[in-house]
Amino acid sequence: MATGLSATTPLVEARGLTKRFAPPARLTDMFRKERPHTHAVNKVDLTISRGESIGLLGESGCGKTTTGRLLLKLIEPSAGDILFDGTAVAGLAGPSLIDFRKRAQLVFQNPFDALNPRFTIERALAEPLVNTGVERATHRDRVEKALSQVRLPPLARFEGLFPHQLSGGQLQRIVLARALVLEPDFIVADEPVSMLDVSVRAGVLNVMREVRASLGLAALYISHDLALVRYVCSRTLVMYLGRIVEEGPTEDLLKSPLHPYTRALMKAVPVPRVDQSRDPLPIIGNVSDARGQPKGCSFRDRCPLAIARCADDEPALRSVAPGRRVACHLV
Ligand SMILES: Nc1ncnc2c1ncn2[C@@H]1O[C@H](COP(=O)(O)OP(=O)(O)OP(=O)(O)O)[C@@H](O)[C@H]1O
Ligand code: SF4
Ligand SMILES: [Mg+2]
Repeated sequence: MATGLSATTPLVEARGLTKRFAPPARLTDMFRKERPHTHAVNKVDLTISRGESIGLLGESGCGKTTTGRLLLKLIEPSAGDILFDGTAVAGLAGPSLIDFRKRAQLVFQNPFDALNPRFTIERALAEPLVNTGVERATHRDRVEKALSQVRLPPLARFEGLFPHQLSGGQLQRIVLARALVLEPDFIVADEPVSMLDVSVRAGVLNVMREVRASLGLAALYISHDLALVRYVCSRTLVMYLGRIVEEGPTEDLLKSPLHPYTRALMKAVPVPRVDQSRDPLPIIGNVSDARGQPKGCSFRDRCPLAIARCADDEPALRSVAPGRRVACHLV
């Protein structure tokens, strides 16, 4: 796989990324011609530069995890392209796919999904190195280095220990170290601290922020927590029903949200607003159904500002200021 094409090539680039899921087959559906698919991710364009930390924000079911899994080639898109360091991910196979697997890593939400409860911590940390054929003589050094990067004690302290013998905060650091042993360029952290007590979240987030900055790692933080995104991400994408509805530098976006959905999300975050006319908006009802592909704006059923045009005409994600893009007819 080609690497480091140029400093200006984005590390990760998605164009028109789309993922549709077929509905589960039911006997009662057998005679119906069309069963609506779920449009989990719908024509998403995004870029992530080397060393950049991006937040992907949105309510449950809006397509965040699916986007992360697509970018890591853990699932295949229904349409669209992903380029990693200038190379199409779709065509990767054999050694180039193994190389990609080393360079792009997932940090799980739940440590127990990432760590086999029957494996010792030592074995769990070495497992990615074994699976990707990294020279065995380097394993110990790489594991020790990753443990110190996440500010955990040396491996000897974990000898013979299993995941259930560690605290939640320690386990989440082990999960991060397990991603770092492969010395990746890009991590997707899917709700990385949502399973932890509030008291240990800050410690783990600090470590993630430090590690990312010191290693120059690019990261996509998936979250529904605005405070987390604000703390760790320089740029934020807001997603609604599979579409990116707003994008911008995190502080600008929080202080001056433009899309009605982002403005509704802002209720949760006490930040001084630059423009008081853009105070948080009410939001109507629950997340709409992602099945089928309705015309018009995906947010129109819940939008307090919707106009007639919103029912027929899908708003494009347009540039409205340097670094800021919004998909709304009124902005
Ligand atoms: N394997 C699958 N089969 C069918 N539908 C799926 C599958 N994975 C996700 N979906 C659907 O796709 C949509 C997006 O799901 P996704 O898990 O990406 O959302 P999310 O934003 O990560 O939500 P959460 O915040 O709850 O984790 C949802 O409607 C979900 O039910
Ligand atoms: S396009 Fe219309 S429905 Fe969609 S967010 Fe803007 S005003 Fe609301
Ligand atoms: Mg998710």
